[in-house]
Amino acid sequence: MPGQPVSTTVCLRRAVVTGAAGFIGSRLTLALLRSGVRVVGVDRRDPADDPVAACHLAAVADAPGYRHLHADLLTCALDAPLRGADAVFHLAAVPGVRPSWGPRFAEYVHCNVLATQRVMEAAARTGVPRVVVASSSSVYGATDGTPSSERDLPRPASPYAVTKLAEEQLCLAHAARADCPTSVVALRYFTVYGPGQRADMFVHRALRAALTGEPLRLYGDGGQRRDFTYVDDAVAATVAAASAPRCSAVVNVGGGTDASLRDVVHIAEGLTGRTVRLLHDAPRPGDVPATRADPARAYRLLGWRPRIGLRSGMLRQLRALSRPEGRVTA
Ligand code: NAD
Ligand code: UGA
Repeated sequence: MPGQPVSTTVCLRRAVVTGAAGFIGSRLTLALLRSGVRVVGVDRRDPADDPVAACHLAAVADAPGYRHLHADLLTCALDAPLRGADAVFHLAAVPGVRPSWGPRFAEYVHCNVLATQRVMEAAARTGVPRVVVASSSSVYGATDGTPSSERDLPRPASPYAVTKLAEEQLCLAHAARADCPTSVVALRYFTVYGPGQRADMFVHRALRAALTGEPLRLYGDGGQRRDFTYVDDAVAATVAAASAPRCSAVVNVGGGTDASLRDVVHIAEGLTGRTVRLLHDAPRPGDVPATRADPARAYRLLGWRPRIGLRSGMLRQLRALSRPEGRVTA
């Protein structure tokens, strides 16, 4: 049914999730396990010594259908974990727009491009029928705020965005080879938020500031607008992408939200009943004024529409943040 998560029962029995210890990857893993899919999660973060990874994986670590592979995609053997998988969900990456300038760029290239090349080669070699790869709204670059269509010319405005465009196009180039058994759906996620959101991201920081009274650093005037996407909506689109009819495509995954950073601050204040203290700071290079998804293709190819609005999603994130143990299962 349109707007509902698409069932995974048709052809998805075993899946590999890269970046399984991350924000979206852990949430996806949980959803797949709940649908009865067996999952091998691959991540270079070790839940044994990384508290964020441990927190993300707390809900799945002991699930009978889950196996965690603590490994770096740049070096690990991939054929064994991928062989027999019905889909690979390739979410592992170094995310974040602002830190991609300067000395960390090599890490972005290694993890977002070179690791992806290894994943695609292994997927093709082992006959995995579908790779779903996490791309990014950042590939569109600065827009005037009108919806971005997948047909628009990408104009990435940061080193991170360049690597994400390279990543999705690399996957599509593999899939276009006549001898490649793997089709690819590249999902351009638009600023995902919700329980477990990365601590460098704005919604997390706004809620944290409202809860603790610590100031919130605002880059620019706060008029930046984002098509904020609730994590479980992003996960539903991701699962649907594994079962979509065989084709290779790029698809926008936008939450249908058109809100500014100031709107986010107001919601955080309304939900907590506390005032957020703002520290004004300079705009950051590569930070685009607005993102907005044209949702037509996601609906047509995946039968997917977002369901959770910003206030309701932020309330769920706030509840998860307020839990003393920080567990992110809600
Ligand atoms: P995250 O940092 O929480 O998760 C990424 C995970 O990938 C981490 O756990 C990290 O350890 C792992 N990883 C990175 N390099 C690796 C390597 N070489 N080998 C093994 N594991 C590796 O990030 P996230 O916010 O969950 O993002 C997930 C994906 O979605 C990324 O590809 C990101 O670019 C993309 N994306 C995220 C957003 C968003 O708003 N969060 C928006 C657009 C696109
Ligand atoms: C987010 C993710 O971080 C990227 O991984 C992802 O690829 C991208 O979405 C995407 O949609 O493709 P971004 O939109 O920059 O990137 O999301 P945030 O990091 O939450 O930043 C949103 C806005 O808040 C930016 O304008 C940023 O400058 C601002 N911000 C962020 C602040 O003003 N203060 C902060 O402390 C953090």
